Amino acid sequence: MCGIVGMVSADEFYAREAVQRLKRLEYRGYDSFGYYYDGKLFKKTGHIIVPETKDRTKMIITHTRWATHGGVTDANAHPHRAGKVTIVHNGIIENYEELREGLKEKGRVFSSETDSEVAAHYFDEKLKTKPMKEACVDFIKDIKGEFAILVMIDREDTLYALRRDSPMVLGVGENINILASDIYAFSDVTSKAIFFENDEFAAVKSGSYTFYDRHGKEIKKKIQQFKWEQEESTREEYEHFMLKEIMEEPKAVRRLILSLETEQKENFGKFVKLMKESRKVTFVASGTSYHASLLGVYYLHKCGVEAQTIIASEFEHFVGVDRNTLVVAISQSGETMDVIEALKYAKKNRAKIASIVNVPYSTVQRMSEISLNIVAGQEICVAATKSFVNQVTLMLSIAREFGFRINTSNIPGKIEKIFRQKDKIEKMAKELNRHNDIYVLGRGLSYPVAREIALKIKEISYMHAEGMMGGELKHGTIALIEKGTPVIGLISNKDYDMLSNIKEVEARGAHVIKITNEMKGDFMVDTSNDGKFGILATIVGQLLTYYVAKERGLPIDKPRNLAKSVTVK
Ligand code: F6R
Repeated sequence: MCGIVGMVSADEFYAREAVQRLKRLEYRGYDSFGYYYDGKLFKKTGHIIVPETKDRTKMIITHTRWATHGGVTDANAHPHRAGKVTIVHNGIIENYEELREGLKEKGRVFSSETDSEVAAHYFDEKLKTKPMKEACVDFIKDIKGEFAILVMIDREDTLYALRRDSPMVLGVGENINILASDIYAFSDVTSKAIFFENDEFAAVKSGSYTFYDRHGKEIKKKIQQFKWEQEESTREEYEHFMLKEIMEEPKAVRRLILSLETEQKENFGKFVKLMKESRKVTFVASGTSYHASLLGVYYLHKCGVEAQTIIASEFEHFVGVDRNTLVVAISQSGETMDVIEALKYAKKNRAKIASIVNVPYSTVQRMSEISLNIVAGQEICVAATKSFVNQVTLMLSIAREFGFRINTSNIPGKIEKIFRQKDKIEKMAKELNRHNDIYVLGRGLSYPVAREIALKIKEISYMHAEGMMGGELKHGTIALIEKGTPVIGLISNKDYDMLSNIKEVEARGAHVIKITNEMKGDFMVDTSNDGKFGILATIVGQLLTYYVAKERGLPIDKPRNLAKSVTVK
């Protein structure tokens, strides 16, 4: 996690502009932020505040932090300075204790608890005897762990950038170069980007750049031309990005359907062909994306395809892969470290890699032989909403190629019908606000939905929620049901087993809220199709979550302790 932005320009620009760019990356972490330019260091805990200053500069580095090593304090905020070196870092330097001891023996005094500060002292120490290029080669050799790091040296006009396993991209503009954790930071200035691969580094000036491999050998890099919907990065009339992004769901689904019929048509065909040719298909994902993959496996299973999905962080412990396996990663950001690690494991075992991502050119996409974009547009709220809907729509489109009966074209209209129940959902949220625990029950296709709704409730409404299989309840959890306990029951197509599970909790006094398509329920979804039920019922849950959190006055778009792009293990 953590976001970094560095700018180097031939002409002076407002220092505050760089901080504005950093703000676009705030979803990567918001424990503290900081910046350094022309001898001025600022760092502070809390959300990013764009400074009032009229200062202009030609070079700056900025950082927004998601704390790993060291608490959330001003001292632990980046940038870190040592001698004539200033750095910002995203990642974890695993051998920092050992390095710090060595540097302390050389008289170095540390002022933070972070692993990152080691990097500042490391470079300052090296620069006493070596040029920066050699110091970078040594750094890559000596460091265990992950880094996307920017290094500024006093009175030099070059910004140095090094990368291993944490994202880093160079935006190439006219007389300006911007280094950042992802393309959002500069997508308004340039659509030309160069992505760093592992153990590469670059020396970047205003009008030029040079890339090197781990041995310090100069390398030629390809400029990628990227496309991104910029218009969606403002909140418009909405109070929160979460609500705005839920409301964008119909538009996002339409865009995906169109793209699968036009620009992604050929790739989509190849993707499906690869799946059909593979003996074994294994999905891998985390969090919400994992729930989308579970739905995908359900749809594929219904048409006789053997597929499975494994949570990324446990992938190598629970699944065997080989050259006959197609591993399909699903990731909104395409930067989730757990997913990347699972893909590395899969590659090592010679599996084929495919992916479904939202952020183009992300690491997961670049690791894949073939990749599809869900084209949900930028998702700013930390909680995934529209990206989930598009991931599931894409899974449905894939399953259709294997015989799953689905008409995706009316999904947007059906989502709009859910929006018409907004007032009712808001009223229910007021009632739920009084509770601290909630259970969400599903079976079969609604089991992943139960888990997804529970995850949303936990992360955004700060309410303990358990999303579980209706059939598992009687094996233990039912002991927690008492008079008035809220339980959300997901009942699709007169699922009588699910109904029995609902009866079991009702008999123990639970207050059951039914989301259903065919029976009398609290919230109705207009579909008799198993595939669409998954999407529509989840949206009821998304809205319910939003309104409970609003009722509680919580920081909806930036819930505590979280970050959107989870680039640590
Ligand atoms: C929940 C949420 C997370 C992500 C998870 C994976 O609302 O957003 O659970 O789904 O961190 O992220 P991606 O999809 O970027 O790999």
